[in-house]
Amino acid sequence: MQRIHTPVLVKELEVLLNLKSGDNAVDATLDGGGHARMMLELIKPDGRVVGIDQDKNMIEKMSGVKNLIATWGNFKDIDEIIKKRGFKKIRAILFDLGMSRWHLEGSGRGFSFQRPEEPLFMNLNKESANTAAEILNGYPESGLAEIFRDFGEEPRARFFAKKILEFRKTKRIISVKDLLNALGAKAPGGKEKSLARIFQALRIAVNSELEALTEALPKAFGALDRGGRLAIISYHSLEDRIVKSFFSAKTGEAVILTKKPQTASYEEIIKNPSSRSAKLRVLEKI
Ligand SMILES: C[S@@+](CC[C@H](N)C(=O)[O-])C[C@H]1O[C@@H](n2cnc3c(N)ncnc32)[C@H](O)[C@@H]1O
Repeated sequence: MQRIHTPVLVKELEVLLNLKSGDNAVDATLDGGGHARMMLELIKPDGRVVGIDQDKNMIEKMSGVKNLIATWGNFKDIDEIIKKRGFKKIRAILFDLGMSRWHLEGSGRGFSFQRPEEPLFMNLNKESANTAAEILNGYPESGLAEIFRDFGEEPRARFFAKKILEFRKTKRIISVKDLLNALGAKAPGGKEKSLARIFQALRIAVNSELEALTEALPKAFGALDRGGRLAIISYHSLEDRIVKSFFSAKTGEAVILTKKPQTASYEEIIKNPSSRSAKLRVLEKI
């Protein structure tokens, strides 16, 4: 079954985005439009939302929603996308950087280590030629270890990279099952945790996620109206570090509205466990 993504921190965003009737806003990570619908509700009847997603599937699903301009693209080009759509006076921009439930459970692209039969693509933009299989079969040991360490914070990065090189001598790594076999069932350091870290690392590498975020934040800030708000929900320390350092570099140009990041309430975590690691940071341009 393809479950629909549940938007996180909706109540908190309703307050912090500070959207009013007639405002224009951008949802830089549209997916199934959970947050975009909340934004449209706040700005109705005349406000509009530009919704961006690099996965064409999401754009097809969301086209035809009133006052939503669903746009296929990478948020690293957010400034051009906003300009092309003729949008001015953007009052709020939201980035929700997590994994969409549909990508994990419905896309068939190998994002989850619980789906051994899937091919190891891991590309959010399915038209992109980059895949996890290409990295796993082509990179030298040092390159793989670097990815596992830098993008997964995996303490045994070298150990797992070696395992992959050994496996590769006999078979190409094509499916999730191949990768699980290559990594070995008795990996030290807690197998599930390491698997989660390695899958995260590969996904970040395939989609150049940290580069895209680093490029997008100043462009998004530049596109905001004075008094407009920039809200970012991150799910791991690598993303949060980029957001935090961008926010502190904006001293004098912006006010940080979340001294500590907002996190999900106990009730939300019980209903939606994937909200557990969400951290919301918001600033207002002055
Ligand atoms: C966690 S989901 C967003 C969920 C959405 N906020 C909701 O409530 O329904 C993240 C989405 O961002 C998209 N995405 C990730 N990186 C992107 C990028 N660099 N440019 C555009 N879209 C991106 C993914 O394809 C995915 O659909």
